[in-house]
Amino acid sequence: EKGGYDHFMLKEICEQPNVIKDTYRGRLHANQGIIQMAGVEDNIEKFLNAERILIIACGTSWHAGLVAEYVIEEFARIPVEVEYASEFRYRNPIINKKDVVIAISQSGETADTLAAIKLAKERGAFVFGVCNVVGSSISRETHAGAYTHAGPEIGVASTKAFTTQITVLTMIALRLAKAKGTLSNSDFHRYLQELEVIPEKVLEALQTNDKAKEIAEKFKDASNCLYLGRGYNFPVALEGALKLKEISYIHAEGYPAAEMKHGPIALIDEQMPVVVIAPKQGHYDKVVSNIQEIKSRSGKIIAVVTKGDKQVKELADHVIEIPETSDALSPLVTTIPLQLLSYHIAVLRGCNVDQPRNLAKSVTVE
Ligand code: M6R
Repeated sequence: EKGGYDHFMLKEICEQPNVIKDTYRGRLHANQGIIQMAGVEDNIEKFLNAERILIIACGTSWHAGLVAEYVIEEFARIPVEVEYASEFRYRNPIINKKDVVIAISQSGETADTLAAIKLAKERGAFVFGVCNVVGSSISRETHAGAYTHAGPEIGVASTKAFTTQITVLTMIALRLAKAKGTLSNSDFHRYLQELEVIPEKVLEALQTNDKAKEIAEKFKDASNCLYLGRGYNFPVALEGALKLKEISYIHAEGYPAAEMKHGPIALIDEQMPVVVIAPKQGHYDKVVSNIQEIKSRSGKIIAVVTKGDKQVKELADHVIEIPETSDALSPLVTTIPLQLLSYHIAVLRGCNVDQPRNLAKSVTVE
């Protein structure tokens, strides 16, 4: 049932090129310049009239929501707010009839997300679900939605659910951008083409497995770890840190790289591994200066870079090379080596990778 893999988590990491394809199949028609998702088409007016989009989720799904905030605002120019479902439901939030709420959940059973959806519905919002489990409570409770088609995710640490959620949300952003005319025609077509080849790039990123294992050997005994990224890769830093802490029990924090100097930089010494996501596209020069700041304080730098990178290679202790993508689509690729790194660290530490202590696959109690 694990298809020859030692753990479900590794199997699910490796399935990503295929499940991303399953997610966009029949929806993304790059050559014709069309994105078609029934749940979005049927409610396109609601999306286009929305004064704001509220995204609610927990854990990894919340991280996918943060990526969606960046991509929807950039492509479709609709204001987006992302909230933890548990906070949203208890703070008497302002919800307007013209708000569109997007609830993201792999299992479709998360108690706080479900309660937040009910509240948003009571207050008249249109609620759209992005779920993986077909027929789940959240998929039934929402007005409309789009499934991620990742297939069953057994490992408690979410991997393929995350990348397929981002795929769906990016397609929504592109579809809305097309309707609103907020992206130029050439950019729209370019993103469609790029999204279509993402599975190949994810496949290439999976080839960093040996490198990730080699780095894992060096850092398996660390007691802390920082993850830094900027822009689209800030949520990836949060996700990388969550992955490490939940399966290896190493304390890890994700930060926007520029926030370092507002506190966490005090933690840096020669014992501290710092994982920096530094692809060529995006805020490369800014991230390079953040890397210099860590280096001058003797932190150990593990950098995820674009193939052929020279500048970061000179500074970092270890580099993991991934193929180039545009900034907005990069989380789909940069997240892969971070999943592999935490997987190998957890295995080397003898942890129960698929069923980490104290955690359940779906959190059905608040
Ligand atoms: O099923 P959901 O997407 O609603 O679950 C949300 C979180 O419980 C989940 O993402 C959790 O954080 C994962 N264990 C992270 O790997």
